[in-house]
Amino acid sequence: MIYLDNAATSFPKPKSVLSAMYRASLYSANPGRGGHRLSARAGEIVYNTREKAAELFHADIERVIFTKNCTESLNTAIKGCLKQGDHVIISSLEHNSLLRPVQKLSERGIITYDVANVVPESDEQTVLNFQSLIKPNTKLIACCHVSNVFGTVLPIARIGEICRKNGILFAVDAAQSAGTFGYDVNGGNIDFLCMPGHKGLLGPMGTGLLILNRNVQLDSFIEGGTGSLSLETSQPEILPDKFESGTVNLPGIAGLYEGMKIIENVGCENILEKENRLTEYLTVNLKNIDGVTAYDNMHTASPSGVLSLNIGNLHSEQIGERLDSLQVACRAGYHCSALAHKSALTEEQGTVRVSPGFFNGIPDIKKLIYCINKIAKESKIW
Ligand code: ALA
Repeated sequence: MIYLDNAATSFPKPKSVLSAMYRASLYSANPGRGGHRLSARAGEIVYNTREKAAELFHADIERVIFTKNCTESLNTAIKGCLKQGDHVIISSLEHNSLLRPVQKLSERGIITYDVANVVPESDEQTVLNFQSLIKPNTKLIACCHVSNVFGTVLPIARIGEICRKNGILFAVDAAQSAGTFGYDVNGGNIDFLCMPGHKGLLGPMGTGLLILNRNVQLDSFIEGGTGSLSLETSQPEILPDKFESGTVNLPGIAGLYEGMKIIENVGCENILEKENRLTEYLTVNLKNIDGVTAYDNMHTASPSGVLSLNIGNLHSEQIGERLDSLQVACRAGYHCSALAHKSALTEEQGTVRVSPGFFNGIPDIKKLIYCINKIAKESKIW
């Protein structure tokens, strides 16, 4: 099977990740929940992973919060910082992980929100679109760095500058960019950096990170046992405990350490360069196949490793099924991103999304091109 669905999760998981998960399950107990040596060993694993993330994303170690996925990170940031009467701006390419918590708060009458149109051919216009929606009560701008459907890269450095100038909090959904784009949380304008551990960071599913800027305050939205201040009835304010109630995913966190170690050794920029090269090769070759639409019009000048396509008027899910039968794995349909499909006018067909990863090479893309060619011919619509 050729795996080209790394935007959903990276595959295969590196051996070092799997071994670390196995070892953590065999030899470790509940971290921070006992004075015995097995618990201490588990605590060390959690500490080391937190430290690695703090190094990679230039953050304070206690401000690296473990979550179960990017969705939980986004919910924690969004629901923890917004209050009655606040206004929020999101982008027109958001995944439901960001859209739905905002929509829910709006349905409850707590906040109002607006959607800034992303213009792929002009970062300038995109930034102006965000700027023009700012109101006196705008508390938060929240957006993805890279669209999970089209690979559109948002100008987050410039959006972050607007946030700082206007005293607005900035949350970034790095679901498709952590591991390929570098971040400097304390040195930049991002207040909440949200990411999964199982995509670009090459870790296991069930892991995510919420990284808080040194200067930001946030309420918890899940409370419970933290292993600290156990006689207190109120949630501790100390970080990271405030945001890590309940037992953490120790095997996952152990695996995530190894994933991040690979990213650190190889370098984000090299991984991005590779994924981008594969996507470009695909885009160029798709132009020669009659009836194929490649949505590279959704790409910005900045590179990313995601491309959506369609064949004639076939529904994308039909194409996805046929690709699966030809031993190629891509995600087809709507990718939990109604807004993005609305923006690109692909609501009817959806799209087939190709997302190469660290372990793919040109032969994988050649096989995909062969299969797309075959499906286009088979469908007899040309
Ligand atoms: N959010 C993931 C995707 O885009 C699962 O496929």
